[in-house]
Amino acid sequence: MNIVVQQSDPFATASDALIVPVGRVDGAPDFDVIALPALRDQLASLVSDADFTGKTGSTLLVQTMGLAAPRRLILTGVGDLDALTAESIRKAWGTAVTTARDAGAKSVISLLPPASGDLSAAAALTQATAAADMATYRFTNYQGTVKNAKPVKEIDTLAFATDGQSADLAAALETGRAIAAAVNLARDLTNEPGSDLPPMAFAAAAEQVAADHGLEITVYDAAALQEMGANAILAVGKGSANPPCMIHIVYRPAGASESTPSIGLVGKCITFDTGGYSIKPADGMGEMKGDMGGGAAVLGAMAGLQAAGVQATVHAVICAAENKISGRAFLPGDVITGMNGVTMEIISTDAEGRLVMADGLVYLSRQGVREMVDLSTLTGAKIVALGDQTVALFSNNDDLAARLLDAAASAGEPMWRMPLSEHLESQIEAEIADIKNTGGRAGGAITAALFLQHFSEGLPWAHLDIAGSNRTTKASAYTPRGSTGVMVRTLLDYLQRSGS
Ligand code: BES
Ligand code: MN
Ligand code: ZN
Repeated sequence: MNIVVQQSDPFATASDALIVPVGRVDGAPDFDVIALPALRDQLASLVSDADFTGKTGSTLLVQTMGLAAPRRLILTGVGDLDALTAESIRKAWGTAVTTARDAGAKSVISLLPPASGDLSAAAALTQATAAADMATYRFTNYQGTVKNAKPVKEIDTLAFATDGQSADLAAALETGRAIAAAVNLARDLTNEPGSDLPPMAFAAAAEQVAADHGLEITVYDAAALQEMGANAILAVGKGSANPPCMIHIVYRPAGASESTPSIGLVGKCITFDTGGYSIKPADGMGEMKGDMGGGAAVLGAMAGLQAAGVQATVHAVICAAENKISGRAFLPGDVITGMNGVTMEIISTDAEGRLVMADGLVYLSRQGVREMVDLSTLTGAKIVALGDQTVALFSNNDDLAARLLDAAASAGEPMWRMPLSEHLESQIEAEIADIKNTGGRAGGAITAALFLQHFSEGLPWAHLDIAGSNRTTKASAYTPRGSTGVMVRTLLDYLQRSGS
């Protein structure tokens, strides 16, 4: 889908569909945006029959039957106009664009999204554009002759109608496209089958992203990991014929200097998690192709930094391994020495995420970053505690936690802070080593976070457990079924505010 801004009179220009945002004023839908009086009056009566309220996410498709140049109008609710948010804009355009597509529209024109005090016209257009591109995302890499035989419904052009030339709006649109591209990249990687995206293939994808966006990249292969002492990543990857690796990517904003703040991101990238010798039950194991969702979110965010105008230096570390079984696999009872000297006793080879992240955090702490954020599909216990969607936040720093919660709220990605309960530390005390890699069922998401805290090296650190949140079985306004690319936009928002 091509998305452009175009100077035109949308009601007088032929199109398959015209998207019309309808807000609520004093509790009732307000049709003032419809510039043709005859049409507006007809619609008002039609709409009361159809029970269209103008609430966020509600849409109504009406055929214009020759009364206007567009063949259809798609009314899309943006909610109360005096309480307009970025999320209401995203929901409105996500649903409107999929409604237009599913109706078979090829050429779509849209009125500009409404703005308000807190939300500039440019920011609103960025969000509407991003939502349109995210909502129409499809993963087609594996469609064969059966699926390809069916005609696909796809919008050719979505044009936002303006009444004058505006370079500002064109730039805002490009930002929206870049944000959606970052999210859709994370979705693509996460939807990819495990066998087709082993650690070194993920590294190749990262190298492509780095080349496309002018980022520095180093890939540490197994030999380099050995030299570095990244024993935990090596242990987890040992059982697989596909060797593990660690990917280090650096973004430097234009004009970066000594005083430019530096932020660290780490992503869990288990390209497939069988559980190892502590093997997982067969039911649903296929979902573990998504156990690299943290790494994918980090890589997606890196792809969007420049377009988002991030003014901080960002170091990203992606810890990639495949957790499998073979004659060489690591065992329950093994002890691994971390890069900071902390020894880890393996109780379950299925608690592998915290192991690879231990090496990633210590490596990252040595890059001169002022704070670190890790993203991991870490525990089933997180899903029990908060459900699929809500991301669990743990942090040793209230200020960092607050900034992440703010970013998540403006990105519309649910996040809830959980405690690093000190009294549960005893649950991960090991028999023959310093700490053990499982802490029992009680507080499982918390004890996993406490384990990671041993590798935060005294820096402000936040851990985001995205288990379950990186995929969805139910489509919503701008998130189709499948991988969600969760946290890419939260990270971009957080990093945009980290420039000073
Ligand atoms: N990748 C899983 C966590 C997970 C579970 C993510 C379900 C998404 C959906 C992780 O490696 C794991 O297996 N965790 C274990 C830890 C346990 C052995 C302490 C778990 O949650 O069961
Ligand atoms: Mn596991
Ligand atoms: Zn895992």
